[in-house]
Amino acid sequence: MHGLRPVTLCLLLLLHGALIFMVNAGITSSFVRKEAKSIDMPFSSDVFSHPPGYNAPQQVHITQGDHVGRAVIVSWVTQNEPGSSTVVYWAEKTPNQKHRATAGKVTTYKYYNYTSGFIHHCNIKNLEFDTKYHYEVGISTRRRRRFWFMTPPAVGPDVPYTFGLMGDLGQTYDSNVTLTHYEMNPVKGQAVLFVGDLSYADHYPFHDNSRWDSWGRFAERSTAYQPWIWTAGNHELDYEPTIGETKPFKPFLHRYRVPFRASGSTEPLWYSIKRASAYVIVLSSYSAYGMYTPQYQWLLEEFPKVNRSETPWLIVLMHSPWYNSNSYHFMEGETMRVMFEPWFVHYKVDLVFAGHVHAYERSERISNIAYNIVNGECTPVKDQSAPVYITIGDGGNIEGLANNMTEPQPKYSAYREASFGHATLEIKNRTHAYYSWHRNSDGYAVRADSVMFFNRYWHPKDDSSSRA
Ligand SMILES: [Fe+2]
Repeated sequence: MHGLRPVTLCLLLLLHGALIFMVNAGITSSFVRKEAKSIDMPFSSDVFSHPPGYNAPQQVHITQGDHVGRAVIVSWVTQNEPGSSTVVYWAEKTPNQKHRATAGKVTTYKYYNYTSGFIHHCNIKNLEFDTKYHYEVGISTRRRRRFWFMTPPAVGPDVPYTFGLMGDLGQTYDSNVTLTHYEMNPVKGQAVLFVGDLSYADHYPFHDNSRWDSWGRFAERSTAYQPWIWTAGNHELDYEPTIGETKPFKPFLHRYRVPFRASGSTEPLWYSIKRASAYVIVLSSYSAYGMYTPQYQWLLEEFPKVNRSETPWLIVLMHSPWYNSNSYHFMEGETMRVMFEPWFVHYKVDLVFAGHVHAYERSERISNIAYNIVNGECTPVKDQSAPVYITIGDGGNIEGLANNMTEPQPKYSAYREASFGHATLEIKNRTHAYYSWHRNSDGYAVRADSVMFFNRYWHPKDDSSSRA
């Protein structure tokens, strides 16, 4: 009888060790995306085309206009003159009952040597829940354009609802693939939770704001038909003192309105909405959040208002991730994590979505809140009261992929991959939500990473092994 030769034994032991590591550790996907530069589509691309006709409304986009989903803010730009700021709208079931709402002041802004078109924002209110509405803008001219949207069902604990998730989208050929995949995904998102970094106009000399316009025209095919819930990213700052532009977020805030007052916020950069069975809190990574600041004070008062019997799913959006094992933007979210993580655990936030890092990552349920300067307890630990952190900054912008991970993969990181894509969150009821990430390199229906999440308030069981 021959025993195992020492070399074979060593190999077997190594293999055994590797298998144990694979079982216990997270996954760094072996999928390798073809390396190709992400290039912005030229202005002449069909996705940027202007609607035909003099002063025709363009860059149409909608977002939720109140706290519960019975109002919609309709925004658009007219290039030549202010034109009409009225929206005509009607429920599909009562086409003869046409309503009119008129925007407040039509705004414009200047950015260095750029002057914007005429920006209209009109909040249409007192809509019925769960109803299809048609709407028209540009009604004083022959260039009126018609779109439609669905209002969400009334807020309630077991109302199914499906969100799409995108971040760091930009306007490259890859961005176009991401948006197309979202549109073609058979899961059919009903509203988009967008985690910041829209146009990347600041990539150009003097932050060429024409790229804000082209982004608005590019995204219109989705943003005109379903609300996008906006989060501000660093590419919304447009802070450039060298050319005299010292007011942060100037283009973004002129172009994108949110219903911040409805949630008691004093600034459009942080706010909340309820939608179906979800309570969505939007935070600003690039506004002050230290103790006593307006954002801190608002969040302190906001968390106790969330009634999980009404909206079981508590979701937070921010731009800069707290848990990120990519070397790109490593630890940039750390100061906000230190400030707010104890609250997230105390109030049992279900899911935190962030962008910023141009790759995909999903964490385990972990927290790191024991540290108090002297006790040395500064390692993330499994925590069933903690959220899952998801980085979804892989929309496909001009800066390209972030494919330099820190090694080894930290234990808290459940799945990571440097590919472009989007995600969907299908809330089924108060206990279960089916989440999937879809990489652009696959077919529309392929779920590259998917998990059945259990609600932290109603069903706080370990869902880490529910990878589907
Ligand atoms: Fe960013």
